[in-house]
Amino acid sequence: MKVLKYIFTIGALTAVVACAQQKPIAQTASIASNSKMDVFISDLMSKMTVEEKIGQLNLLTGGEAITGSTGNSDIEKKVKAGQVGGFFSLSTPKKIRTAQELAVNNTRLKIPLIFGMDVIHGYKTVFPIPLGMAATWDMALIKRTAQIAAEEAAADGINWTFSPMVDVSRDPRWGRFSEGSGEDTFLGSEIAKAMVQGYQGDDLTKINTLMACVKHFALYGAAEAGRDYNTTDMSLVKMYNEYLPPYKAAIDAGAGTVMVSFNDINGTPATANKWLLTDVLRNEWGFKGMVVTDYTGINELTAHGLGDLQQVSALALNAGVDMDMVGEGFLTTLKKSLEEGKVKIEDINRACRYILEAKYKLGLFEDPYKYCNDERAKTKIFTAENLKFAREAATKSFVLLKNQNNLLPLKKSGTIALIGPLADSKVNMPGTWSVSTDLSKAISVKAGLENAVGSNAKIIYAVGSNLVEDAAYQTRATMFGRDIKRDTRPEAVIIKEAVDAANKADVVVAALGESSEMSGESSSRTDIKIPAIQQRLLKALLATGKPVVLVVFDGRPLDLSWENETVPAILNVWFGGTETGNAIADVLFGDVNPSGKLSATFPQNVGQIPIYYSHKNTGRPMQKDEWFKKFTSNYLDVTNEPLYPFGYGLSYTTFDIAAPILDKTTITSGGNITVSTTVKNTGTKDGEEVVQLYIRDLVGSITRPVKELKGFQKIFLKAGESKKVTFTLTENDLKFYNANLDFVAEPGDFKVFVGNSSANVKEADFRLVK
Ligand code: BGC
Repeated sequence: MKVLKYIFTIGALTAVVACAQQKPIAQTASIASNSKMDVFISDLMSKMTVEEKIGQLNLLTGGEAITGSTGNSDIEKKVKAGQVGGFFSLSTPKKIRTAQELAVNNTRLKIPLIFGMDVIHGYKTVFPIPLGMAATWDMALIKRTAQIAAEEAAADGINWTFSPMVDVSRDPRWGRFSEGSGEDTFLGSEIAKAMVQGYQGDDLTKINTLMACVKHFALYGAAEAGRDYNTTDMSLVKMYNEYLPPYKAAIDAGAGTVMVSFNDINGTPATANKWLLTDVLRNEWGFKGMVVTDYTGINELTAHGLGDLQQVSALALNAGVDMDMVGEGFLTTLKKSLEEGKVKIEDINRACRYILEAKYKLGLFEDPYKYCNDERAKTKIFTAENLKFAREAATKSFVLLKNQNNLLPLKKSGTIALIGPLADSKVNMPGTWSVSTDLSKAISVKAGLENAVGSNAKIIYAVGSNLVEDAAYQTRATMFGRDIKRDTRPEAVIIKEAVDAANKADVVVAALGESSEMSGESSSRTDIKIPAIQQRLLKALLATGKPVVLVVFDGRPLDLSWENETVPAILNVWFGGTETGNAIADVLFGDVNPSGKLSATFPQNVGQIPIYYSHKNTGRPMQKDEWFKKFTSNYLDVTNEPLYPFGYGLSYTTFDIAAPILDKTTITSGGNITVSTTVKNTGTKDGEEVVQLYIRDLVGSITRPVKELKGFQKIFLKAGESKKVTFTLTENDLKFYNANLDFVAEPGDFKVFVGNSSANVKEADFRLVK
């Protein structure tokens, strides 16, 4: 592998960064071009003082969403002094107009502010958490959710969103697993593209679009031990093949900005990583937008061990950071560093230009108040149409994990015991990172079930258990207004009440799992089971002999091994957004047939992590369905198989997917091959199926994964109906980054698989001939 070492010296600090060999420059930076925008910005910048330029690099938080140890002060004074480029976490036309007026009416050059927000999975109308959205495998639906989020947020004064979050993650201990699309590079890249297109539309100057910010660049999802903000150490081949493509897909789709991740990458934190932010992002990928740090990302370089605030601010600017979120390191040190020769005016100019360009692209110079329209705020948010779409999206995100003897769907009659600490919570339904919503508008499971059955069935509710046994843990797991009232009665009393309710019912629905704040930022777990106190409740409910349906809330793949053994029906619902309760009722009662598929492997236990379907084979592989064999790659205590594989999810009907038929058995350079299969709905209900296509490159110059997703189609089939599904594979689909980091397809034999999960496939063979 050709790896160069770049050594650069800033002040007293010498940093050594391992770098990939410089790749050909895809596109040159926009800075030199001569468009109308460039003329406008050049003219403006020619009038700016150094202080004014540095002021543009400063992004402050104006709201309450504080995710670090500090916020900002003296905000008004700073805006008037031209020391602020933008705000985030500020909303409503009124507040944003006030802030904008402060800047426009008081500063010499009247440069408008940019307004960001974490609009992650919806704005006021909340859709399922991103991990749930990924489980829909429905790109049109995902794009539409981003469009709706943009429409609502832009109507409330905002013009920039800190989304999509595209960090590939294979470690469910990491709380932020919930915020991304799961473990897969290909699926994650498709989703990244759909989201950017949804937010930005075809014209960023429109008043119903937002500028996207792809994050967290890069490799944040590979934090060691699943502990948040932790170190990442990864080979370049793995990065390029598995972790970087979703960021690139978002950028290729036009994402206007990039947010830098908190983590250390092979010895250099991303915020100070020139190889990452300049060599890869700018020079290889041709990114022409603005780069913003994460919350106090520059200041945190000091704790990483890279120097004092002046040193680390210079490091970040020189690495390629344009905008400093919250920490004010740029604001307070860059002038001094310039005078001392530690930074160059060209780099301050570069950063300032990218920020001004973002504002220009949004049309803010033409009209700084274009997003501040009270009428739009009143009419475009929480509309009936948006809520209807949120309900549909939620139903499509749920994954049916088990349904023994077709216990589901339930009838809307008789008596249903609804039990569990998540059963009557509104505030936990939207899920993590739904900072702008009105929590009181969310639909609880109890309300959803009651809405669905009306007077046709009786619902008896009992809480059954606390969220977790330890009260202090419960406090940590229910922050930001996502409370779950603690029941102070003895556990036996609380369980007995639930068992009594179950005994009076025909069926039990147990709404258990994680609270919404048990995943998300700074919410890593070492135990990824349903909390023990809830398992004890579930055991007592099962002991009644009544049929039990487990509705599991989670923001990560959980270890559900015990539940899978003991509970007849399991519906995994993530956190479904505003309409969660109604959507759960739709699926439990069969008004909607579940079609969600896992976008991440569910392990048998935490010890199997990292576990993902596209692993390498090793030199001593186990055969499928084989149990322990000495001197092969396995465990003494469990098989290598996951509990539920990537791509898995049941339906109330059944599908048969025939073996793939190829139109030819060789692909030549520039040519393609079509892979078709016939899918039949063999059950008695209409439903949707996700037909998945995987390949395996059998012999390579470096080792290749045992399977890689390369295509999928979600199709609807009436009961008894058959459809032919066709995929086209080109040479490009067979490419990967080799040891020299060249993107190549190597001639030789391949397998192609089609099926309805990564573990349930039929195969055929073909060859690439060049
Ligand atoms: C998170 C980002 C988020 C930012 C601003 C940080 O703590 O890592 O994902 O966009 O805060 O709220």
